[in-house]
Amino acid sequence: MRYVEAAGLRVSAIGLGTWQFGSWEWGYGSDYASTQAPAIVRRALDLGITLVDTAEVYGFGRSERIVGQALGSRRHEAVVATKIFPVAALGPIVANRARASARRLCTDAIDLYQVHWPNPVVPVSLTMRELARIRAEGLVRHVGVSNFSAGAWRAAEESLGSPVVSNQVRYSLVDRRPEAELLGYASEKGRLVIAYSPLGQGLLSARYGADHRPGALRATTKEFLPENLRRVEPLLQTLRDVAKAHDATPAQVALAWLVRKPNVVVIPGASSVAQLESNAAAADLELSDSENEELTAASDAYDPLRGAYDPLGGTVTMLLRATRTFGEGLLGRLGGFGRSQ
Ligand SMILES: NC(=O)c1ccc[n+]([C@@H]2O[C@H](COP(=O)([O-])OP(=O)(O)OC[C@H]3O[C@@H](n4cnc5c(N)ncnc54)[C@H](OP(=O)(O)O)[C@@H]3O)[C@@H](O)[C@H]2O)c1
Repeated sequence: MRYVEAAGLRVSAIGLGTWQFGSWEWGYGSDYASTQAPAIVRRALDLGITLVDTAEVYGFGRSERIVGQALGSRRHEAVVATKIFPVAALGPIVANRARASARRLCTDAIDLYQVHWPNPVVPVSLTMRELARIRAEGLVRHVGVSNFSAGAWRAAEESLGSPVVSNQVRYSLVDRRPEAELLGYASEKGRLVIAYSPLGQGLLSARYGADHRPGALRATTKEFLPENLRRVEPLLQTLRDVAKAHDATPAQVALAWLVRKPNVVVIPGASSVAQLESNAAAADLELSDSENEELTAASDAYDPLRGAYDPLGGTVTMLLRATRTFGEGLLGRLGGFGRSQ
């Protein structure tokens, strides 16, 4: 495994995303949540993966609980990253929500506490003020953001008065928007871009096609529309060709393409231990400059239908559902949702 350090935070270049754990959006079921998910976490540690990413909103607390219980006595081997959902993220609510996450994660301190989305109504300075306070108390070790523009990231740092060490954003061969500004900001300032959906939610594994589409949330996203599955085929073929030359898989090549960039780490999710093992091994896959250019050119040429589908790959749908559920529960339980889960 390779490790990357930024602003005092050292993480594995390949991390583990855990939105899949106990979340309806992926449709993996209860056996996955109770058996495979904990096995994925433990195997990740065996393979030197340290960065384990979750969020209070994933499965409304279930993902955090699964991660916390799976880490158990090996907690110290992981860099646990979770996220505060940006509804009412101000005042004492921030500390209450962080404490609730820490409890579910079975830890005293959250290594990386990220603001999941910018909130257009609550100024980031109010959230950052509270995050600075709970960091000083030791409840949180590092502060990060997610889905922030470079300007909003900079503003968050100014409010915090110290580095906001990472910005977690959607980044892969099928979504290169972070290249416009965020990568430059991260390398100039010595920060991390944490790439989420680095496999395009499984699209870049090259095992889906117009006649073989995934279910659950992915059945509703534009990336997996039959027409887009046709349009992405040349990119997938390039991934297959490069993979063949390395005796690797398209998914491994897609991850290797990302982590060869400075200040970029990835947090792929996994539906099995075998996928996790394969993803971890991608840290050792070295692409040549010409392979890198070939993949970048194939990505440039990919021209998907855009249209009215959720441009964030289902995340907005998830957020809308979460907002409703969260709002319903908020008045009764300001200390954090899902206590009974
Ligand atoms: N901050 C945010 O707003 C945000 C948003 C989204 C995600 N995230 C984080 O980022 C993590 C990763 O993103 P993601 O889960 O959306 O997408 P992803 O990592 O691009 O895709 C994960 C899916 O790809 C497939 N896969 C994984 N490894 C594979 C392999 N080696 N070979 C073949 N297929 C493989 C699996 O699905 P199948 O096997 O079912 O095809 C798996 O569930 C999440 O778990 C979460 O922690 C954050």
